[in-house]
Amino acid sequence: MGIRQLAWRACYELLGARVRRTEWAFMNYGYASRVGAAPELEPADEPDRFCIQLYAHVLDGVDLTGADVLEVGSGRGGGASWMSRYLGPRSTTGVDFAASAVSLARRDRRGPQLTFVRGDAAALPFTGASFDVVVNVESSHCYGSMEAFVSEVRRVLRPGGHFVWADLRDEPDVATTREQLASSGLVPVRERDITAEVLHAMRLDDARKADMVREWIPRPFQRPLRGFAGLDGTRNPEGMAAGTIRYLSAALVRAT
Ligand SMILES: C[S@@+](CC[C@H](N)C(=O)[O-])C[C@H]1O[C@@H](n2cnc3c(N)ncnc32)[C@H](O)[C@@H]1O
Repeated sequence: MGIRQLAWRACYELLGARVRRTEWAFMNYGYASRVGAAPELEPADEPDRFCIQLYAHVLDGVDLTGADVLEVGSGRGGGASWMSRYLGPRSTTGVDFAASAVSLARRDRRGPQLTFVRGDAAALPFTGASFDVVVNVESSHCYGSMEAFVSEVRRVLRPGGHFVWADLRDEPDVATTREQLASSGLVPVRERDITAEVLHAMRLDDARKADMVREWIPRPFQRPLRGFAGLDGTRNPEGMAAGTIRYLSAALVRAT
């Protein structure tokens, strides 16, 4: 395991071990479009609307009814729980390499046939052809090898199954990421640059996230957590506004 991957693992293990608030269910930047209908949500899910909308966006056009769904990098489990409760899959499995995140997700998230397991994106702990849809939201930038990950996605998908993905990349790495996605042998269905929509969500959700950092994080750690949360004035929203960081989404299908 490389230094970068070790650092991400330590960061997510620490966050899950030290900030055990049930109400912290998502760790993505969100999505807000100025066009199109917003998903209907129960009042308890409303605070997480923008984070949920990122999942709704990546799943656009992919029917989960009766499907076996795998989320890789499921974090604190909010996305897997939302999919299981709203989109009618047969089963939803979240996998994450941070043991503390998996234990929080098991403790806090509920949904029909919803389970969480520990595992690495580069060596998924499942037999081949066991899922209809693989979902991956804002997680792959942490991986040691994107090629190993997409090869695993192809292995665990059933023929005809979909891989839906969203993540941010520094602009110079965008072309490489496209090649890495293509190296999977999966067939591209769509790719979108959603930087504007993610940035819009970050701005709309900034005050809520700033309050979370202030109230939940011990003072010495608040500064790095502001960057992690993508709060106003930190590297990622600044880079996205300047065009040096891009947020992409894609859907691919396993043809055979
Ligand atoms: C920014 S969080 C996103 C979590 C969730 N998808 C969401 O939107 O709330 C990234 C997650 O990816 C997980 N992760 C990072 N590297 C991983 C790997 N190699 N295998 C599995 N999970 C990984 C982290 O532990 C973390 O929970």
